[in-house]
Amino acid sequence: MDHLLLLFLLLWSSEPVVRLVEGKSRCAGALELKHLREWRTLNANALWNLKTAAVVCRELNCGSAVSVGERVESSSRPVWEISPICVESGSALRDCAESSSANHIVTLTCSDSVRLLGGTGLCSGRLEVNSDPSDPSWSSVCEADFDQQDAQPVVRLMGGESRCAGDLEVKQEGEWRAVWGYNPNPKRYWTLKTAGVVCRVLNCGSAVSVGQIFSPPRYVWGISPACVQSEPDLRECAEASFAANIVSLTCSDSVRLVNGTSLCSGRLEVKSNQSDPSWSSVCEADFDQQDAQVVCRQLGCGAPSVLQGALYGEGEAPMGTKEFQCGGHESALLDCSSASERNTCSPGRAVSLTCSEPVRLVRGESRCAGDLEVKHQGEWRPVWGYDSLRTLKTAGVACKDLDCGSAVSVGWRKESSERSVWLISSDCVQSGSALRECAEPGYSNHILNLTCSDLLFQPNISVSSMYGVSGAQQQGFQVFRGSTFTISCSIQPQYPGGSFQLNFTSINSANNYYSLPAVNHSAHFLFPSAEPAHQGSYSCVYHLFVFSHNFSSESRLLSVSATDPGPFIIRAVVLPLTLLLVVTVGLYFYCKEE
Ligand SMILES: *[C@@H]1O[C@H](CO)[C@@H](O)[C@H](O)[C@H]1NC(C)=O
Ligand SMILES: *[C@@H]1O[C@H](CO)[C@@H](O)[C@H](O)[C@H]1NC(C)=O
Ligand SMILES: *[C@@H]1O[C@H](CO)[C@@H](O)[C@H](O)[C@H]1NC(C)=O
Ligand SMILES: *[C@@H]1O[C@H](CO)[C@@H](O)[C@H](O)[C@H]1NC(C)=O
Ligand SMILES: *[C@@H]1O[C@H](CO)[C@@H](O)[C@H](O)[C@H]1NC(C)=O
Ligand SMILES: *[C@@H]1O[C@H](CO)[C@@H](O)[C@H](O)[C@H]1NC(C)=O
Repeated sequence: MDHLLLLFLLLWSSEPVVRLVEGKSRCAGALELKHLREWRTLNANALWNLKTAAVVCRELNCGSAVSVGERVESSSRPVWEISPICVESGSALRDCAESSSANHIVTLTCSDSVRLLGGTGLCSGRLEVNSDPSDPSWSSVCEADFDQQDAQPVVRLMGGESRCAGDLEVKQEGEWRAVWGYNPNPKRYWTLKTAGVVCRVLNCGSAVSVGQIFSPPRYVWGISPACVQSEPDLRECAEASFAANIVSLTCSDSVRLVNGTSLCSGRLEVKSNQSDPSWSSVCEADFDQQDAQVVCRQLGCGAPSVLQGALYGEGEAPMGTKEFQCGGHESALLDCSSASERNTCSPGRAVSLTCSEPVRLVRGESRCAGDLEVKHQGEWRPVWGYDSLRTLKTAGVACKDLDCGSAVSVGWRKESSERSVWLISSDCVQSGSALRECAEPGYSNHILNLTCSDLLFQPNISVSSMYGVSGAQQQGFQVFRGSTFTISCSIQPQYPGGSFQLNFTSINSANNYYSLPAVNHSAHFLFPSAEPAHQGSYSCVYHLFVFSHNFSSESRLLSVSATDPGPFIIRAVVLPLTLLLVVTVGLYFYCKEE
């Protein structure tokens, strides 16, 4: 019968003949039918059940039917009354509509006005509906009223190795189609940030990679990245289109980092049992550096930099998780062998992990200056900014990721020909996303380069004296009063030139310093005669002008004290002389015996 009804609804005219009014959305409310050019509500009767409601929901592009109800009005009003017997006899719907008056009217709720609470994704949880506009509360739906078919997912990944990787398909208007990740103006592609919405909805962890793949031209759903960002229900964003490139993505599936500052940091959670899609924290005692390497790789991040308990909160108490025994080379954590389950883990011991961001600066003679490159989809590419990425603020993100301080200058280079780059928009970066999460594929002959403040290595400082020096670093070095000593500053070769400043602080005298140009990346400050006034703390500060800016870098502090040479004379002069005498006398007698 519902097929007949559908047919009749469609045959009526090209303009809409049914609608839902006075509801929270266009997909819930009182059902109205247009007949004889007049919209009227419908009399509630036996015709209206979930099956007939489903036809209306489909017609309205509102997903599936969730509930059918009736509303009792205080007084009767003009309605269209449709007799079930008439429809079942095969007559056209309009031939079955009769003008009448009633105070019981049909209300419908389609799946676009439902929500799921307490579940792990969009497609599980307690179903609640809101069908009555005058009542702002949501009510649970009785299982008996709810056909399993109505709980079909709208969001899936096809052709990948698991349900968490592959070509994205979306079900809209009852039809699964691949997705064209488009944004006409300005032209934008899906980023990891966009893909992350899909991974979350599928309960598939975080986004690892997203790209456009070419396929034979076909009907697709065009879904713009901007829409996904503001409206996580992909159906709301879908527009019928015809295209030859479609979105393909990979989610991390069984592993994620939560409550961190990017996809590459946070408290580790794993989903170890596919039939139980809930996430659990991991006990610190069950996890080591090799395991961390595997997780960082699985998430598409750089190498692990910090592995520490409780850095990003505790979450659910880690319970019954496995002890992972990774070799470090595995591509996924669940590929690692694991020891038997433990049931206890002391609180405050959930693993937190920080992987480095896959960002680097190359061709700048320092890891803190050069052409900016980002690794995305397993590929290092230079970066070019869509718009005002070339500001210090946004470029500063890269310096911070590299632990290089702040950005000092941002510039660009022009290459002779176009090459593959990652295009990054500043609004994405400024919303707090990591560079990798904002990367879109593109071509450019411009390349972003930048200079960060912590460009220089730390210089070395050391002291030497012709009579030697003594003392461990903590207590400071001792030189002998009246002796000559030298403080040497040196720095690992990086850029030519520069100068060293020897910075001196003592208890009795004010700050003092001496300067020498750097020769072969070092400088030697000679003190002809050690005096008590030389006692104090020394540090080497290296100064360099490069990339149109002044940079400096300071060594650790070295403390020097001048001691009385008394005991030294015995040790360094008398003792060797005595030894020499003994040896000489011994030799004399030895030779004489011969
Ligand atoms: C931590 O992450 C979980 C899962 O993503 C989220 O539900 C929760 O709100 C987050 N908590 C905080 C404090 O950010
Ligand atoms: C996986 O989860 C299901 C449902 O919670 C449970 O019945 C099953 O025993 C679990 N399997 C393993 C291997 O833990
Ligand atoms: C950036 O490129 C320009 C042009 O080639 C160059 O002058 C500048 O030194 C570069 N900056 C860095 C940090 O590499
Ligand atoms: C600085 O000191 C360290 C440790 O003493 C040494 O390994 C390194 O080679 C020194 N670097 C330079 C540039 O002298
Ligand atoms: C020299 O040392 C003093 C005290 O440690 C410090 O305040 C000052 O900034 C240093 N000078 C330079 C140029 O680093
Ligand atoms: C600097 O190093 C070069 C090569 O190591 C050496 O030939 C030169 O003599 C050095 N110059 C000084 C002033 O020590």
